Amino acid sequence: MHLTALKLKNFRSYANITLTPPEGITVIAGENGAGKTNLLEAVHLCCLGRSHRTNTDTDMILNGADTAAVQVTVQRRDGRHDTGVRLFQGQKRKKICYVNGKTAQRVGDLMGHATCVIFSPEDLGLVQDGPNVRRRYLDMLLSQLQPAYFFTLQQYMTALRQRNALLKQPESPELNAQLDVWDEQLAQAAAPLTRLREQMSGRLSAMAAEHYRAISGRDQEVLSIRYVTQLGETDIAAQALRLLRQRRRDDFHRLSTSVGPHRDDLSLTLSGESLQSYASQGQSRTAALSMKLAAFDLLTEEQGEPPLLLLDDVLSELDPLRRKRLIDRIRSAQALLTCTDVSDLNGAEPNCILRVAGGTVSE
Ligand SMILES: Nc1ncnc2c1ncn2[C@@H]1O[C@H](COP(=O)(O)OP(=O)(O)O)[C@@H](O)[C@H]1O
Ligand SMILES: [Mg+2]
Repeated sequence: MHLTALKLKNFRSYANITLTPPEGITVIAGENGAGKTNLLEAVHLCCLGRSHRTNTDTDMILNGADTAAVQVTVQRRDGRHDTGVRLFQGQKRKKICYVNGKTAQRVGDLMGHATCVIFSPEDLGLVQDGPNVRRRYLDMLLSQLQPAYFFTLQQYMTALRQRNALLKQPESPELNAQLDVWDEQLAQAAAPLTRLREQMSGRLSAMAAEHYRAISGRDQEVLSIRYVTQLGETDIAAQALRLLRQRRRDDFHRLSTSVGPHRDDLSLTLSGESLQSYASQGQSRTAALSMKLAAFDLLTEEQGEPPLLLLDDVLSELDPLRRKRLIDRIRSAQALLTCTDVSDLNGAEPNCILRVAGGTVSE
């Protein structure tokens, strides 16, 4: 997949720019705060309909402007795909997504056209932070892989919010009748989500292990990823429904739903030991990097061509050998790679270097 154009209007620090990066590696260089990550965020927004670093869409509108717009054009095996997003200040209008010049009905319609994997220093959170970070990793990846996954996830989250809101009310026969309905919906949506997450985690594990071995150069350390769920039976929907009913009384006390994909996690181990409690900073970093590279492999396999790679300040975190091994692994794709110091690029042989300063980009 080749990103041929990226347009930003009143997006973050940019009033109006268009970039036309070549295939291969494009380096985006500039001081801290120059606006490098803003460019990667714009691409991410066009791929997934949301930022990778804020939940508040209006943060991305240039201060003082009413609306922001971003657009990408990618050239794929099957032709050209355009996706874009417009954001609005204020409560009245929500964001609007565009696909190939037409307004998309739902954010999910945006997904699967331009696809990306983003690498950033915060990826360490995949190993060190809570289960929600690992679930988001899966959700972002699987939504790009199968837009139907994203729609089911939305249905699931809507049903979950409804159920949790009801759990905060005093128990009554009417309330229990309503809960029966939401339990049914949750269970129906839980099944395909759990199944795909479980299935893809197995493939990600094999791919990540291979990357870990290659980047660390240590054959004796084996990275493994396993999906951890309470829903392990063959008929997931039936099991989920049974557990939701069984737990309802408890859930009333805790005011939230205690079973389902929103409670699941990925267990990460290195030669059988839990990474979270045992790994060094370096091992954790390599593991997180390997998980992102595995996401890249999975998208490449499933889509028949590599997604866009967005590498935000990751080279400076790696020693020269690991840096070189990373660069070798991403050569097959187009990559936008940010750095403050171009000397970090040793061996990267970029096809293009862009310099960012004061809201402008120059070659
Ligand atoms: N909504 C916004 N309007 C104007 N400027 C913004 C907005 N959001 C962020 N910025 C500016 O963008 C810069 C940070 O950009 P960023 O891409 O994160 O920098 P870096 O080059 O370090 O990655 C800061 O100078 C910040 O003031
Ligand atoms: Mg940055």
